[in-house]
Amino acid sequence: MSNPTDILNKLFKETKPQDRLYPIPETPIQDFDSEDILNTNIYNVMLNRRSQRKFEIKEVEDWKLDIIFAAADTAPTAGGFQGFEIFHIKNPDIKIKLVVAANNQPYVNAPVVLVFCMNPRRVKMQFSSEILRKFSIQDATLAAAYAQLAAHSLGLSSIWIGMIDDRKVMETIGTDLLPSSILCIGYPKKVLQPKPKRTLSELIHTIE
Ligand SMILES: Cc1cc2nc3c(=O)[nH]c(=O)nc-3n(C[C@H](O)[C@H](O)[C@H](O)COP(=O)(O)O)c2cc1C
Repeated sequence: MSNPTDILNKLFKETKPQDRLYPIPETPIQDFDSEDILNTNIYNVMLNRRSQRKFEIKEVEDWKLDIIFAAADTAPTAGGFQGFEIFHIKNPDIKIKLVVAANNQPYVNAPVVLVFCMNPRRVKMQFSSEILRKFSIQDATLAAAYAQLAAHSLGLSSIWIGMIDDRKVMETIGTDLLPSSILCIGYPKKVLQPKPKRTLSELIHTIE
């Protein structure tokens, strides 16, 4: 399988809700507490994810990639217009060029390299080009974040690359779309513990 199988299209197209295997209809959980919630898969994934810069030399299965793409496709986007594109870089020479475009960060040459680009042309809303640009950078960023969490849920690790020379990336992958990030994914050499974060009282600024 060389192309994505479009999991989500299969889910939503022409299928009656009762015939769909996924997503399972959600039934409101009764009598749950924070412990129950923190033990759910989504929280485990979020709480355990850790950036990884050392990957095994091992291919990532196509079906896992497909699930990662499907996750990116579920992200919210401005107006639902999906103002972003994903470039899946398989070519080894282009991966090496992306290392250079990313300030010579060697781990950009990873088993899976995804360049998330903004595509404001998709956002058909009557706002200024500045706003549409802002929307598309948020769309691309959210999609990459969803893909990153999906990767972790599949036993993979990732590193988010924001330190990129936009022009070099565009030239390397042959697009006129501005990149927002590169997501590098693979099997971790060593599973790392999540990094401590600041406390919620430091983070949250309540305005009453
Ligand atoms: C916007 C953004 C840009 C980043 N750019 C880079 C980068 O260019 N190179 C890199 O090695 N890590 C990069 N990172 C990863 C961060 O260094 C990492 O997320 C941070 O140290 C927190 O660690 P954690 O992801 O394990 O929680 C970036 C992360 C974000 C969100």
